[in-house]
Amino acid sequence: MASTLTGAPQRVRVELGERSYDIIIGTGLLARAAELFKPLKLGKRGVIVTDSNVGPLYDAALQQALRAGGIETEILDVPAGEPSKSLRQANRLLEHLPSLGLDRRSFVVALGGGVVGDLAGFIAATYLRGITFVQVPTTLLALVDSSVGGKVGVNLPQGKNLVGSFYQPRLVLADVDTLKSLPERELRSGFAEVIKYGAVRDAKFFAWLEREYQRVLRREPDAVAHAVRCCCEIKADIVSKDEHESGLRAILNFGHTVGHAMEALVDYEGLLHGEAISMGMCFASKLSVKLAGLSEAESKRLCALLEASGLSTRPTEKFDMNRLLEAMRLDKKARNGKLRFVLLKRLGEAVVSEAVTDADIEEVFNVCCR
Ligand SMILES: NC(=O)c1ccc[n+]([C@@H]2O[C@H](COP(=O)([O-])OP(=O)(O)OC[C@H]3O[C@@H](n4cnc5c(N)ncnc54)[C@H](O)[C@@H]3O)[C@@H](O)[C@H]2O)c1
Ligand SMILES: [Zn+2]
Repeated sequence: MASTLTGAPQRVRVELGERSYDIIIGTGLLARAAELFKPLKLGKRGVIVTDSNVGPLYDAALQQALRAGGIETEILDVPAGEPSKSLRQANRLLEHLPSLGLDRRSFVVALGGGVVGDLAGFIAATYLRGITFVQVPTTLLALVDSSVGGKVGVNLPQGKNLVGSFYQPRLVLADVDTLKSLPERELRSGFAEVIKYGAVRDAKFFAWLEREYQRVLRREPDAVAHAVRCCCEIKADIVSKDEHESGLRAILNFGHTVGHAMEALVDYEGLLHGEAISMGMCFASKLSVKLAGLSEAESKRLCALLEASGLSTRPTEKFDMNRLLEAMRLDKKARNGKLRFVLLKRLGEAVVSEAVTDADIEEVFNVCCR
C-alpha cells in the first residue's frame, strides 16, 4: 500500500444520502479552516467548544482563520477530562448559547478529543433541535474513531454514554499536526484503536502497521495521515452500511467486551480506554483461536504488534474472574445479560458471537490474566 503524501489533503466520504460528509485529512488544515468550511455555507456566527488543554494550544489559530473568512466565533471551554462529558456541562453550555445571537444557520465546532466531540455534538444535536456540527479532532482516538459516525452524548453518574443521540457532523477536519502536542500515553492508547481497524477489516493495513508502526508513533505526518485515512475509510464504509449499529458496526467493538469491563472494574482510574482495549483484543484473539478458527500465528501477530507499540496485552493488576464476568454482563452492549464477543476468523475478518460460554472465558482468562 503506498504511503500517503503530505501536501494535498486527503478526503474520505461518509456516504449517508443527504447527510453525507467529508473527512479531510492532512497537515496545516486549521489555518485553512475558512476555505475548507466554505462549501458548507455556514452562517456567519458559531461557537468553538474546546477543553482547558486543547484551547490554549489551538483555539486562537482556528478562531483567527475563521475570522479571516468573515466568520465570527465564540470560544466555550470546559475542564479537560471525562467528567466534563456531563449533563451539567451540557446545560452550562446550552444556557450560554441564547445570549450569543445564534440562529439556525449557526454552527458548533468541536475542537478536542472524544470528550469534547461527544459533548459538543450533543449540544449541536439539541440546540434549536439541531444546528450544524463540525468536528476538529485532536487526539488519535478522536481522529480515527469518535469524530466519525455520529454518536454524540454525555455520561450519567450511573454509567457512560447513557444519554445521547446519533447526529452526524457536516465535516470532519482532521489536522494531524495537532497530534504533535498529544501526550505520549494518549497517542499509544489511540493507537490500539488503529490496530483494531486492521484486525477486524483490513489485513493489508494490518501488515502495513506491522512495518510502519514506529513511524506513526514518532508522529511522522505522512505515516499518521495514511493510518488515519485507512481507519476513516474503514469506519466510513461500516457506518454508511450500518449507521445505527444494528449489525456490522458491532465489529468495531472488537476487544471492547473485556476492555469495557476492565475499565469499569477500576472505575476508569489509571487505565486509558485504548490500554484496556489492547488487553481486550489480545483476550478476544485467544478466544478466537479456540472458537472462530483464527490461527495461533495470527493471534500472536496481533499481540506482538500491540506490545511493540507499548501497549499491555495482559492486565497490570489482578482482576477477579467472576467480577469481570459480572461487569461484562452489566455492559449496555450485552443483550439480556448475554455476552457478545467480536471474534476474528482471520486477521481482517471479524464475526459477532453470542455463543461464548463462561467456561471458554475462564479458560482464556487463566492464560491471559494470571
Ligand atoms: N462518539 C464515539 O463514537 C466515540 C468513540 C470512541 C470514544 N468516544 C469517547 O471519547 C472519549 C475519549 O476521547 P479521548 O481519548 O480523545 O479523550 P479526551 O478527549 O479526554 O482527550 C484526552 C486528553 O488529551 C488532551 N488533548 C486532546 N488533544 C490534545 C492535543 N492535541 N494536545 C495535547 N493534549 C490534548 C485532552 O485535554 C485530554 O486531557 C470518551 O468519552 C469516549 O466515550 C466516543
Ligand atoms: Zn474504543
